[in-house]
Amino acid sequence: MIDKVYCADVKPEMEGKKIKLAGWVYRKRAVGKKVFIVLRDSSGVIQVIFKKERGDAYKEAKDVGIESSIIIEGTVKADPRAPTGVEIEAESIEVVQNVDFFPITKDASEEFLLDVRHLHLHSPKVGAIMKVKATLMQAAREWLLQDGWYEVFPPILVTGAVEGGSTLFKLKYFDKTAYLSQSAQLYLEAAIFGLEKVWSLTPSFRAEKSRTRRHLTEFWHLELEGAWMDLWDILKVEEELVSYMVQRALELRRSEIETFRKDFTTLKNAVPPFPRISYDEAIDILQSKGVEIEWGEDMGADEERILTQEFEAPFFVYGYPKHIKAFYMKEDPEDPRKVLAADMLAPEGYGEIIGGSQREDDYNKLVQRILDEGMDPKDYEWYLDLRKYGSVPHSGFGLGLERLVAWVLKLDHVRWATLFPRTPSRLYP
Ligand code: 4AD
Repeated sequence: MIDKVYCADVKPEMEGKKIKLAGWVYRKRAVGKKVFIVLRDSSGVIQVIFKKERGDAYKEAKDVGIESSIIIEGTVKADPRAPTGVEIEAESIEVVQNVDFFPITKDASEEFLLDVRHLHLHSPKVGAIMKVKATLMQAAREWLLQDGWYEVFPPILVTGAVEGGSTLFKLKYFDKTAYLSQSAQLYLEAAIFGLEKVWSLTPSFRAEKSRTRRHLTEFWHLELEGAWMDLWDILKVEEELVSYMVQRALELRRSEIETFRKDFTTLKNAVPPFPRISYDEAIDILQSKGVEIEWGEDMGADEERILTQEFEAPFFVYGYPKHIKAFYMKEDPEDPRKVLAADMLAPEGYGEIIGGSQREDDYNKLVQRILDEGMDPKDYEWYLDLRKYGSVPHSGFGLGLERLVAWVLKLDHVRWATLFPRTPSRLYP
């Protein structure tokens, strides 16, 4: 590891100090007897000046290509005109690898950027998204730790569906068939009997051909499951967790967030309690706005987008009809047409970022739901066992991390919130 200073750590108070920096050539221009290189590293950028009188260093700097990797040594100069109030007068340059032509230019199309995603990751803007994503998860870990949740590590190779058979990725597992996990939920449900409050962060897979701005075939899924909690208890957990994540990101990543959005209102508004409306109310609102939807129909991205116009903060929709929701959700004892489920919707058109529910803990009802869905209870024997040996009321939820990032940064597609997006048409790079 070389002994270098990060761009963002160079301050005007360091005037006159000799330092070493290492990074990539972000911009370059030659004016008169000077070459100006904007050096980029993971922390930010700084302007480096090579004067002609430096001889070889000047010549090498003049010839170096955009995105070449370089190490420079020079002296810190405070300059109020420089964007960061400081610049470097270079004494030497070591070109670690020269790049003649970097394939990404200003007018690159989105599809091209995705084709060369491995190079797109050089971009400070992409870096800013990844920093915000990392900070959101760092915040989640902080909150989960102080609220007493255990992290667990569930399997990804599984034998059954959680969220419906039609979106399972099937694979050969020696002489058997296995699937890629859609959700860790069923395994988290098993884990609560020893640990009570558990969470995991795993990739989840959905073989969904939907080409919407909010679907990936592989996404990062933050899931929690808590024993002795009903639906209303778990909604409190959801709003406290999401609020902490968003407020912490605002505190630690303000400048990165500012790159993407100017208005912070909805983010600041993400403090408990989040508004709660019933599915019935949601349908009324949609109908009053001229949307053609009947009670019992599922809300898609379009309906959710219209609904979000009513709110300036994340909000919950609870009490969905049973037949549009998953088999494991608990039937509402006061209205058997419904389940004790709620989604959290992000404002500004984003819609669902969390799906959660109280779980059906009645053995017979659960078997019936499995049969109603056309599935075989034999495939869920171990899961059904959980209702026979010390069953307790319990609830949980799953948050799609890329969807949260997309809303926080107002991205136009969740694919920008992931390192190497996987969609129906994209498996490479
Ligand atoms: O609503 P979903 O399907 O719920 C579950 O998987 C539950 N078993 C979770 C649980 O209770 N433990 O998915 C949960 C969240 C969604 O709200 C969404 O944010 C995200 O996962 N998600 C996706 N994100 C990107 N691409 C997809 N194809 C997604 N499908 C779901």
